[in-house]
Amino acid sequence: MVLGIETSCDETSAAVVKGGTRLLSNVISSQMDVHRKFGGVVPEVASRRHVERITLIMQKALEQAGVSIKDLDAIAVTQGPGLVGALLIGVSAAKALSFATGIPLVGVHHIAGHIYANHLVKPLEFPLVALVVSGGHTELIYMEGHNRYERLGRTRDDAAGEAFDKVARLMNLPYPGGPHIDRLAAQGNPGYDLPRAWLEADSLDFSFSGLKSAVMNLIHNASQRNEAIREADLAASFQEAVLDVLVEKSLRAVKRTGVKRLVLAGGVSANSGLRVRLHQRCAQEQIELLIPPLELCTDNAAMIASAGTYQYLDGNFAELSLNAEPNLSL
Ligand code: KG4
Ligand code: ZN
Repeated sequence: MVLGIETSCDETSAAVVKGGTRLLSNVISSQMDVHRKFGGVVPEVASRRHVERITLIMQKALEQAGVSIKDLDAIAVTQGPGLVGALLIGVSAAKALSFATGIPLVGVHHIAGHIYANHLVKPLEFPLVALVVSGGHTELIYMEGHNRYERLGRTRDDAAGEAFDKVARLMNLPYPGGPHIDRLAAQGNPGYDLPRAWLEADSLDFSFSGLKSAVMNLIHNASQRNEAIREADLAASFQEAVLDVLVEKSLRAVKRTGVKRLVLAGGVSANSGLRVRLHQRCAQEQIELLIPPLELCTDNAAMIASAGTYQYLDGNFAELSLNAEPNLSL
């Protein structure tokens, strides 16, 4: 029985998971309303919000699960990567609880958590390739078994979700922009010619900053010429440029490692175009595709509790000297 705690960005969350797979509670308090007016997450504001909420959210998670603290075998907390001030709140809360009760502490990598969101739906089978796409990450990870991660590719600049949010901002759409671009793209045609960064021939890395600049130039040039932008077409063109690379490189990673299953994770998994295209390609190539439901795609503590369970089973405990690691590698 593991209590998970997640405060790496703008969601304060606590959850109880039994046996790594059974979700007993998953309480999420989003700060979206506070950050929206700034057009993005303000780190200092996020930290303060986490401080105000964390104790209450942990209590609620235990209450909803119907368990008391003494029933817990471990406390799993997101150690990184993320905003350092935000991470520190979760780490401090987890350490305090562990110190007061003697319950073992486990430090979890946020990306490992995103992958284990799938484990709460259907037990993960190995080996697998995971595509983790969120506001902060774009990574291709190979897993041979529990706790065994090998990074195959990552973004060299912006994360996919960050690119969606930045382009949305250029188009004067509200934050977070991903869902708005997704909705607009469905009404348009990809008529604008935008670049795809394939990088070196064998690379599984990503780059989205050139695409973002291309959109910025396109909007700038149109305004200089007093031409109107076809918004839905621009959204469709941008989304297609992102998805072409995400889908192609994921399939390459699957083929290169010889695995038979692809797991999707992170907030951008909500993108309807990405879901449709991955389903089509995976069906053609007879690859099993796993996508968690929306509430488990975005940041939550249940995924952290699930990943933490397998570290606990491996005896991979943290000391009370555990610190927040904003640039933690997997
Ligand atoms: O995983 P997540 O909740 O937080 C991070 O760990 O970053 O991901 C949030 C990101 C945002 O950039 C948001 O714009 C993007 O996921 N997103 C989407 C969609 N829904 C959320 N991007 C594209 N299409 C969507 N439907
Ligand atoms: Zn995340």
